[in-house]
Amino acid sequence: MVNRLCGGQSGGGSSLNMSNAKHCFKNTENGEKYMTAERSEFANSGNTGNISIAIDGPAGAGKSTIAKEISKRLSITYVDTGAMYRAIGLKAMRMGIDPADVRRVVPMLDGTNVSIEYVDGVQHVLLDGEDVSGLIRTEEVSHYASVISTIPEVRKKLVELQRALARVRNVVMDGRDICSYVLPDATHKFFVTAEPEVRAARRYTEYAAAGKLNGRSFDDILCEIKRRDERDSTREAAPLRPADDAVVIDTSEMNVESAVAAVLAVSYTHLTLPTNSRV
Ligand code: DC
Repeated sequence: MVNRLCGGQSGGGSSLNMSNAKHCFKNTENGEKYMTAERSEFANSGNTGNISIAIDGPAGAGKSTIAKEISKRLSITYVDTGAMYRAIGLKAMRMGIDPADVRRVVPMLDGTNVSIEYVDGVQHVLLDGEDVSGLIRTEEVSHYASVISTIPEVRKKLVELQRALARVRNVVMDGRDICSYVLPDATHKFFVTAEPEVRAARRYTEYAAAGKLNGRSFDDILCEIKRRDERDSTREAAPLRPADDAVVIDTSEMNVESAVAAVLAVSYTHLTLPTNSRV
């Protein structure tokens, strides 16, 4: 495989628009020399503020797997913002509220408390004091989260929580609007993506292994992924798209190790080059 850093590339036919992204990192076998990049190297790089690694991208691209690994290697906190939208979606689902019904969702928010706790370094999301981390990974909650996240009032509430977390600690945060909106001053910005078919295949394998297919075929899952992409990227409030200054990493043909190496390599390079350098 060839290392490729390319400007403004479309990501090879993905349904997501990459035209405004500056750099695109596909297929890598290198990064070995960067694999030892540790937090101390980041800390010694002259960056005196908090480290904030922002990772956006569509469902199933591998963001959370990559972010968790980065968090482990750099000993920084992983913030999974999708879990927060899922918690609010779960509440609407439990209350029998249509997640698209703004007139019912907005009043629901007043009495809703979403908070985050870390137990042995693992994020737990609390909904009104209840740990719902194990209840939010169903396809139904995915749907509720995707629909409810189009409501600006929902986003406002959660963005405050996300920014507060990044103010007090070093974070690697993943989501849809982290680079452009939640942490526009993030020290490192990435857009992790993959072809819809590849993402659907990963989900299919995951669900099959967990016995969660519930009769769905690969094509059903591909349809769900494409529907979510469409909703997440065409909504008015903070649509999913690569930020101008994000580095795009296409994981279609990459394993986790290579993708992590790419994030570390680019982050490390940004920190050690003069401030106005371009990769
Ligand atoms: O990353 P995830 O699949 O757990 O996210 C669930 C939904 O939440 C996703 O369909 C879009 C929404 N979301 C968002 O709008 N903004 C974020 N920062 C994170 C997730």
